[in-house]
Amino acid sequence: MSNIIEKIDDRDEKEFVGTSSEFSEIANTASLNLLPTKSRKQYEITYNRFREWCFDKKVVNFTENVRLAYFYKRLHDIKPSSLWSEYSIMKACLSSKDNINIKNYKTLMAFIKQNSVGFRAKKSKVFNREHIYKFLKEAPDSQYLMKKVAAIFGITCRRDELQKLSVDDIEEVGSILIVKVPRSETDNERSFVIRGTTVRGAFDPINEIADICKKHNIWLHIDAAWGGGLIFSQKHRAKLNGIERANSLVVNPHKLLAVPQQCSLLLVQNTEILYNCFSRGAEYLFQKDKHYDRSYDLGDKYLQCGRKCDVFKFWFMWKAKGSSGFANHIDTLMDLAEYFEEQVNTRPEFQLVSKRQYMNVCFWYLPRYLRAKTNILENSSQLHKVAPQIRALMIQYGSVMLGYQPLKGLPNFFRFVSQNSALTKKDVDFILDHIKEIGDAIFK
Ligand SMILES: Cc1ncc(COP(=O)(O)O)c(C=O)c1O
Repeated sequence: MSNIIEKIDDRDEKEFVGTSSEFSEIANTASLNLLPTKSRKQYEITYNRFREWCFDKKVVNFTENVRLAYFYKRLHDIKPSSLWSEYSIMKACLSSKDNINIKNYKTLMAFIKQNSVGFRAKKSKVFNREHIYKFLKEAPDSQYLMKKVAAIFGITCRRDELQKLSVDDIEEVGSILIVKVPRSETDNERSFVIRGTTVRGAFDPINEIADICKKHNIWLHIDAAWGGGLIFSQKHRAKLNGIERANSLVVNPHKLLAVPQQCSLLLVQNTEILYNCFSRGAEYLFQKDKHYDRSYDLGDKYLQCGRKCDVFKFWFMWKAKGSSGFANHIDTLMDLAEYFEEQVNTRPEFQLVSKRQYMNVCFWYLPRYLRAKTNILENSSQLHKVAPQIRALMIQYGSVMLGYQPLKGLPNFFRFVSQNSALTKKDVDFILDHIKEIGDAIFK
């Protein structure tokens, strides 16, 4: 049989005429690799059966009628419900091996549809929301804790991958979780690092994480949306040490640097990658024969096409203020945050949630009955209600707008974060005095 196939292949490889046999071999192997690994053998058998039939029938041109005749014959050999899968296999083989697309053969398609009685397309099963909630709630922690963590953090993996994921695939390095999703039939092994610090304004140990990413060949993306602007301050930029090792990085100048909304930068190390991922090369927009440098055509690098040029706002501000202007802005804000933290620490009616690393000062106002307590968290449920009530009144008065939130089981606390370097220590005093005044009036 292999002899027959070789002969057919020799006759049929018109596109390889004039090329060396070495190229034909490489192309054959490459096209084989396009077929699904798991069922490659089945694909080969189906395809070879067709080619043998062609050889017997002395078929030279592979027209739609030839395919129709073949499937008509196959209808006598196989169950109607298998016709559709045989058609799919043939479609994949002809496309990858012969560069023939039978998708548009309308009569053939109608024939297959009409005759494939009882065929049900297999749908891949995925967890729905209810399954996930049930799993998180009911599966025993002793066995499934790490899988739960993976599910909560939204690691993208298939059901069978999640089922195969074991505690051994999750490595804890300090406060970092590395999750290795094992190789599956359809996807290559891939790893994720899980870290997350937003509310407290903490900085991750970037170099430590970058080492881990390098070791496990993991893409390092840094969310420096809030912290990235710090690069302008000689005094504080060391917090960003290692940021240059990121594969991709987001910085929002509309946050710390107070550029008018919105202005968000995505920086990538590999200058080709955005183009390779997103380019659609629409010829009516991105002509290859323009008279100017085509690298200015940024539209072909993005999911969107035409958008406002937000980065100009940042560029104009930079021109106007200079790097030293941004540095002053940041240093003033950091000093202000330091003063805020000091005040919280010195006033008995306030308590810091955790030591400040950045501009985020997280603190509780303590009603009188809590001030003498050594562990205020024993009264968590009461404390939880304090910040929302004080905030509601401040908003009603139109005096101060200050955010609050709970965090990892901690009761609601206020979070002072300012990007307005015109604020002064007097403003900080006013805010804290005001909270105390309202709190002391509500909570006797
Ligand atoms: C650390 C961090 N990342 C990302 C975001 C989202 O930013 P945006 O939606 O403005 O791009 C925020 C918003 O506060 C943030 O603090």
